[in-house]
Amino acid sequence: MTEVTIETVDLVKRYPISLRGISGGRHREYWGRVGGFKEIFTWKKGFIQALNKVNLKVYRGEVFGLLGPNGAGKTTLIKILCTLVLPDGGEAYVNGYNVVKQSSKVLRNLQAVLGEQHRGFEWRLNLKDNLEFYATLYGLPRSYAKKRIEELLEFMGLKDRSNDMYQRLSTGMARKLQLCRALLLDIPILLFDEPTAGLDPTAATDFRQLLRRLAKSEGKTIFISTHNMWEAQSICDRVAIINKGEIIACDTTENLRRYVSPEKHYSLILDGEPDGKLKRIIDEFEGLNGVKDVSLEFGSLTKIIVKTDENFKILDMMNLIAKHCLNVRDMETYEPSLEEIFIKLVKR
Ligand SMILES: Nc1ncnc2c1ncn2[C@@H]1O[C@H](COP(=O)(O)OP(=O)(O)O)[C@@H](O)[C@H]1O
Ligand SMILES: [Mg+2]
Repeated sequence: MTEVTIETVDLVKRYPISLRGISGGRHREYWGRVGGFKEIFTWKKGFIQALNKVNLKVYRGEVFGLLGPNGAGKTTLIKILCTLVLPDGGEAYVNGYNVVKQSSKVLRNLQAVLGEQHRGFEWRLNLKDNLEFYATLYGLPRSYAKKRIEELLEFMGLKDRSNDMYQRLSTGMARKLQLCRALLLDIPILLFDEPTAGLDPTAATDFRQLLRRLAKSEGKTIFISTHNMWEAQSICDRVAIINKGEIIACDTTENLRRYVSPEKHYSLILDGEPDGKLKRIIDEFEGLNGVKDVSLEFGSLTKIIVKTDENFKILDMMNLIAKHCLNVRDMETYEPSLEEIFIKLVKR
C-alpha cells in the first residue's frame, strides 16, 4: 500500500450564500429594509466554507472512508475529485493528475458513483441492454463488452435477473446495476457517495462486501463517503472524519475504534427501593476490572450507572448481580454517538 492514488493538498471550497439560501421570513424582512429588487440580488452575505484545507492521501487497494454528518463536505470533496465542482484553493490529484488542469486524464482514472442510482437507465430495457447501451457509448468492442457484461452481472449476483426490465429492480439491485455500469471500463479508482443510503440491511451488507472484494481482489481504490459510523468501521481500512469542512482525524479503522470505544456506560435498573446493602455492592462494582466510575440515581426506580473502559468484561458484572441476587429489571447501554466522538476529537 504505497502507491498514492488520491491526494488533496490544502483543498478549499466555498459556496457563495445565494438569495435562495435565505429563509422566507428573513427575505421579506430584508426586502422591506432595502426596498429594492436590485439590491437584494446584488446583496452578498458571504460564503459557506464547505471544505477548509483538506489534506488526504489514499492508497491503491484500500477502502477509504470519509465519515461525517450531513453538510460536512463529503459530497463536495467527491465532486471535486470527479471534476464536477471546481475548488477555490489548494490542489487535488487523481493518480497524479491534477483535477483542474488535467481533468480528462482524471476521468480516465476515476469513476464516481453518486446518489441517484436510477439516473441514466432506461426503465423499459432489460439489464443487459441497459449495460450494452453504455458499453457502446464508451466505445467498447462488441464481443469484449458482451463478455464483460456477463462477468459483471455474475459478479454482482444479478445474472438471473439480466433479462428483466430495469423497472422491476429493487433499490438494492438498481444500486448494483449502477456499480456494473461503473465497472464496464476497467477504471482503477472508484468513488461512492453514501453507497448504502436507502438500502435495506441485507442489501447494504451485500454491497459493502462487493466494495471490499473490488479493493482486495482487483486492487481498486475504493473511496466512500458515509455518515454511518458502523459502516465506516466495518469496511474501511482507513477513515477520515470530516466535520464542517475540516478533517479532524484520519487513521486506521482499528485506531479509531480504540479511540472511540473505550467508554461504555451500563445502567442497571433495579426493582424496588435501595436498601443498606447497596452501598457495599457499589464498592464491589467499583472494584471490577475496567470499571472507571459507578454512580447511583434515585427516582421512581433505582439505577446503577457503571462507566467502563475497554478492559471491562460484562460477565464480571453479571456474576456480581447474581451473587447479590440484585433484582435487575432492565439494562440500558450507552456508547458515544458520532456527534460526541466529533466533539471529543475537536477538543483533542
Ligand atoms: N451547490 C451548492 N451551493 C451552495 N452551498 C452548497 C452547495 N452544495 C453544498 N453546499 C453546502 O456546502 C456544505 C457541504 O455540503 P455537502 O458537501 O453536500 O455535505 P455532505 O455531503 O457531507 O452532506 C453544506 O453546508 C451545504 O449546504
Ligand atoms: Mg452528501
